[in-house]
Amino acid sequence: LIVTKPLIVGVSGSVTRPSRTTSLVRSIVQRVAARGDYATQTIELVDAAPILFASLTRPQLTAEARAIVETVENADLLVIGTPVYRASMTGALKHLFDLVHHQYFTSKPVVLAATGGTALHGLVTEHQLRPLFGFLNALTLPTTLYAIEADFEDHRLVSAKVAERIERAADEAAFALESRRHTRPADIHPLRATA
Ligand SMILES: Cc1cc2nc3c(=O)[nH]c(=O)nc-3n(C[C@H](O)[C@H](O)[C@H](O)COP(=O)(O)O)c2cc1C
Repeated sequence: LIVTKPLIVGVSGSVTRPSRTTSLVRSIVQRVAARGDYATQTIELVDAAPILFASLTRPQLTAEARAIVETVENADLLVIGTPVYRASMTGALKHLFDLVHHQYFTSKPVVLAATGGTALHGLVTEHQLRPLFGFLNALTLPTTLYAIEADFEDHRLVSAKVAERIERAADEAAFALESRRHTRPADIHPLRATA
Protein backbone atom coordinates (compact mmCIF):
# COMPACT_ATOMS: atom_id res chain seq x y z
CA LEU A 1 0.00 0.00 0.00
CA ILE A 2 1.49 3.31 -1.10
CA VAL A 3 0.28 6.27 0.90
CA THR A 4 1.13 9.57 -0.73
CA LYS A 5 0.54 12.92 0.88
CA PRO A 6 -2.04 15.16 -0.75
CA LEU A 7 -0.23 17.54 -3.11
CA ILE A 8 -0.72 21.29 -2.99
CA VAL A 9 0.45 22.95 -6.20
CA GLY A 10 0.89 26.71 -6.41
CA VAL A 11 1.01 28.34 -9.82
CA SER A 12 2.27 31.90 -10.22
CA GLY A 13 1.26 33.47 -13.51
CA SER A 14 3.87 36.22 -13.22
CA VAL A 15 6.40 36.36 -16.02
CA THR A 16 8.89 38.50 -14.11
CA ARG A 17 11.13 38.03 -11.07
CA PRO A 18 10.98 39.16 -8.32
CA SER A 19 7.20 38.84 -8.26
CA ARG A 20 4.49 40.00 -5.88
CA THR A 21 2.21 37.31 -7.26
CA THR A 22 4.74 34.56 -6.54
CA SER A 23 5.11 35.90 -3.01
CA LEU A 24 1.30 35.85 -2.55
CA VAL A 25 0.97 32.33 -3.98
CA ARG A 26 3.79 31.02 -1.77
CA SER A 27 2.18 32.58 1.31
CA ILE A 28 -1.14 30.88 0.56
CA VAL A 29 0.50 27.50 -0.15
CA GLN A 30 2.45 27.78 3.11
CA ARG A 31 -0.62 28.65 5.19
CA VAL A 32 -2.60 25.70 3.77
CA ALA A 33 0.37 23.35 4.26
CA ALA A 34 0.54 24.43 7.94
CA ARG A 35 -2.90 22.85 8.45
CA GLY A 36 -1.98 19.23 7.68
CA ASP A 37 0.48 16.69 6.33
CA TYR A 38 0.75 17.87 2.75
CA ALA A 39 3.37 17.92 0.01
CA THR A 40 3.83 21.25 -1.77
CA GLN A 41 5.20 22.44 -5.08
CA THR A 42 5.10 25.86 -6.73
CA ILE A 43 5.35 26.44 -10.47
CA GLU A 44 6.54 29.88 -11.56
CA LEU A 45 5.59 30.74 -15.11
CA VAL A 46 8.61 33.02 -15.37
CA ASP A 47 10.51 29.70 -15.69
CA ALA A 48 7.76 27.42 -17.02
CA ALA A 49 6.25 29.64 -19.74
CA PRO A 50 9.23 29.48 -22.14
CA ILE A 51 9.02 25.67 -21.88
CA LEU A 52 5.22 25.59 -22.30
CA PHE A 53 5.19 28.00 -25.26
CA ALA A 54 7.44 25.59 -27.16
CA SER A 55 4.22 23.54 -27.47
CA LEU A 56 1.20 25.33 -28.89
CA THR A 57 -1.14 22.33 -28.61
CA ARG A 58 -1.47 19.38 -26.24
CA PRO A 59 -0.40 16.74 -28.83
CA GLN A 60 2.84 18.69 -29.35
CA LEU A 61 3.83 18.72 -25.66
CA THR A 62 7.55 18.15 -25.12
CA ALA A 63 8.54 15.85 -22.24
CA GLU A 64 9.54 18.87 -20.16
CA ALA A 65 6.26 20.69 -20.85
CA ARG A 66 4.26 17.52 -20.17
CA ALA A 67 5.85 17.20 -16.73
CA ILE A 68 4.64 20.72 -15.84
CA VAL A 69 1.15 20.08 -17.20
CA GLU A 70 0.89 16.74 -15.33
CA THR A 71 1.95 18.34 -12.05
CA VAL A 72 -0.99 20.73 -12.41
CA GLU A 73 -3.38 17.94 -13.48
CA ASN A 74 -2.37 15.73 -10.55
CA ALA A 75 -2.61 18.38 -7.84
CA ASP A 76 -5.04 17.72 -4.99
CA LEU A 77 -5.32 21.46 -4.44
CA LEU A 78 -4.34 24.27 -6.77
CA VAL A 79 -3.41 27.78 -5.65
CA ILE A 80 -3.61 29.93 -8.77
CA GLY A 81 -2.25 33.46 -8.77
CA THR A 82 -1.86 35.96 -11.58
CA PRO A 83 -0.78 39.54 -11.94
CA VAL A 84 -3.52 41.52 -13.68
CA TYR A 85 -2.37 42.11 -17.25
CA ARG A 86 -4.74 44.16 -19.40
CA ALA A 87 -7.64 43.49 -17.05
CA SER A 88 -7.13 39.71 -17.20
CA MET A 89 -4.72 36.89 -16.35
CA THR A 90 -1.34 36.74 -18.07
CA GLY A 91 -1.20 35.08 -21.46
CA ALA A 92 1.32 32.64 -19.98
CA LEU A 93 -1.18 31.40 -17.38
CA LYS A 94 -3.94 31.08 -19.97
CA HIS A 95 -1.62 29.07 -22.22
CA LEU A 96 -0.92 26.59 -19.40
CA PHE A 97 -4.67 26.04 -19.01
CA ASP A 98 -5.11 25.71 -22.78
CA LEU A 99 -2.73 22.72 -22.59
CA VAL A 100 -4.26 20.81 -19.65
CA HIS A 101 -6.96 18.17 -20.09
CA HIS A 102 -10.19 19.44 -18.51
CA GLN A 103 -11.14 16.03 -17.09
CA TYR A 104 -8.44 16.17 -14.42
CA PHE A 105 -10.05 19.24 -12.89
CA THR A 106 -13.46 17.86 -11.95
CA SER A 107 -13.99 18.66 -8.25
CA LYS A 108 -10.38 19.80 -7.80
CA PRO A 109 -10.31 22.54 -5.14
CA VAL A 110 -8.76 25.79 -6.35
CA VAL A 111 -7.80 28.95 -4.47
CA LEU A 112 -7.90 32.02 -6.72
CA ALA A 113 -5.51 34.95 -6.22
CA ALA A 114 -4.31 38.00 -8.10
CA THR A 115 -2.18 41.10 -7.72
CA GLY A 116 -2.66 44.36 -9.58
CA GLY A 117 -1.62 47.95 -9.85
CA THR A 118 -5.08 49.21 -8.93
CA ALA A 119 -7.79 48.05 -6.53
CA LEU A 120 -10.26 48.76 -9.36
CA HIS A 121 -9.26 45.45 -10.94
CA GLY A 122 -9.88 43.48 -7.72
CA LEU A 123 -12.75 41.51 -9.27
CA VAL A 124 -10.41 39.89 -11.80
CA THR A 125 -10.57 36.70 -9.70
CA GLU A 126 -14.36 36.65 -10.13
CA HIS A 127 -14.62 37.79 -13.75
CA GLN A 128 -11.58 36.14 -15.32
CA LEU A 129 -10.27 33.31 -13.13
CA ARG A 130 -13.51 31.83 -11.73
CA PRO A 131 -15.14 31.34 -15.17
CA LEU A 132 -12.01 29.54 -16.45
CA PHE A 133 -12.11 27.09 -13.54
CA GLY A 134 -15.89 26.89 -13.83
CA PHE A 135 -15.42 25.64 -17.38
CA LEU A 136 -13.00 23.03 -16.01
CA ASN A 137 -15.61 21.89 -13.44
CA ALA A 138 -13.15 22.68 -10.67
CA LEU A 139 -14.25 23.50 -7.14
CA THR A 140 -13.20 27.14 -6.80
CA LEU A 141 -13.20 28.12 -3.14
CA PRO A 142 -15.29 31.09 -2.01
CA THR A 143 -12.53 33.27 -0.55
CA THR A 144 -10.26 34.84 -3.14
CA LEU A 145 -7.16 36.98 -2.59
CA TYR A 146 -6.33 40.27 -4.23
CA ALA A 147 -3.38 42.48 -3.33
CA ILE A 148 -2.11 45.76 -4.78
CA GLU A 149 1.45 47.00 -4.90
CA ALA A 150 1.02 48.91 -1.58
CA ASP A 151 0.37 45.56 0.17
CA PHE A 152 4.00 44.55 -0.54
CA GLU A 153 7.43 45.79 0.51
CA ASP A 154 10.30 44.61 -1.67
CA HIS A 155 7.83 42.15 -3.26
CA ARG A 156 7.10 40.62 0.17
CA LEU A 157 3.52 40.64 1.40
CA VAL A 158 3.20 42.98 4.42
CA SER A 159 -0.56 43.67 4.55
CA ALA A 160 -2.18 42.34 7.75
CA LYS A 161 -5.59 42.47 6.05
CA VAL A 162 -4.48 40.26 3.16
CA ALA A 163 -2.72 37.93 5.63
CA GLU A 164 -5.96 37.61 7.59
CA ARG A 165 -7.87 36.80 4.43
CA ILE A 166 -5.25 34.15 3.54
CA GLU A 167 -6.10 32.39 6.84
CA ARG A 168 -9.76 32.24 5.78
CA ALA A 169 -8.86 30.89 2.33
CA ALA A 170 -6.47 28.38 3.91
CA ASP A 171 -9.23 27.11 6.23
CA GLU A 172 -11.50 26.53 3.23
CA ALA A 173 -8.68 24.85 1.30
CA ALA A 174 -7.75 22.50 4.16
CA PHE A 175 -11.41 21.57 4.57
CA ALA A 176 -11.66 20.79 0.84
CA LEU A 177 -8.45 18.72 0.98
CA GLU A 178 -9.75 16.66 3.91
CA SER A 179 -13.12 16.05 2.16
CA ARG A 180 -11.20 14.91 -0.90
CA ARG A 181 -9.37 12.22 1.11
CA HIS A 182 -12.71 10.39 1.35
CA THR A 183 -13.33 10.44 -2.40
CA ARG A 184 -12.07 7.55 -4.51
CA PRO A 185 -9.43 8.72 -7.03
CA ALA A 186 -11.37 6.97 -9.82
CA ASP A 187 -14.30 9.28 -9.12
CA ILE A 188 -12.04 12.26 -9.52
CA HIS A 189 -9.73 11.18 -12.33
CA PRO A 190 -11.78 9.20 -14.88
CA LEU A 191 -8.99 9.55 -17.45
CA ARG A 192 -6.16 8.28 -15.25
CA ALA A 193 -8.34 5.38 -14.06
CA THR A 194 -8.80 4.07 -17.62
CA ALA A 195 -5.39 5.12 -19.04
C1 LIG B 1 1.75 44.26 -19.25
C2 LIG B 1 1.16 44.70 -17.94
C3 LIG B 1 -0.19 44.94 -17.87
C4 LIG B 1 -0.78 45.34 -16.66
N1 LIG B 1 -2.12 45.55 -16.62
C5 LIG B 1 -2.70 45.89 -15.44
C6 LIG B 1 -4.13 46.08 -15.37
O1 LIG B 1 -4.85 45.96 -16.34
N2 LIG B 1 -4.67 46.38 -14.15
C7 LIG B 1 -3.90 46.51 -13.01
O2 LIG B 1 -4.46 46.78 -11.94
N3 LIG B 1 -2.56 46.34 -13.06
C8 LIG B 1 -1.95 46.03 -14.24
N4 LIG B 1 -0.58 45.84 -14.28
C9 LIG B 1 0.20 45.92 -13.02
C10 LIG B 1 0.48 44.53 -12.44
O3 LIG B 1 -0.69 43.75 -12.38
C11 LIG B 1 1.02 44.65 -11.01
O4 LIG B 1 2.18 45.43 -10.99
C12 LIG B 1 1.31 43.27 -10.43
O5 LIG B 1 1.37 43.34 -9.03
C13 LIG B 1 2.62 42.67 -10.95
O6 LIG B 1 2.78 41.40 -10.37
P1 LIG B 1 4.20 40.64 -10.30
O7 LIG B 1 5.10 41.44 -9.37
O8 LIG B 1 3.87 39.31 -9.75
O9 LIG B 1 4.72 40.57 -11.71
C14 LIG B 1 0.03 45.49 -15.49
C15 LIG B 1 1.41 45.23 -15.59
C16 LIG B 1 1.97 44.85 -16.79
C17 LIG B 1 3.45 44.59 -16.86
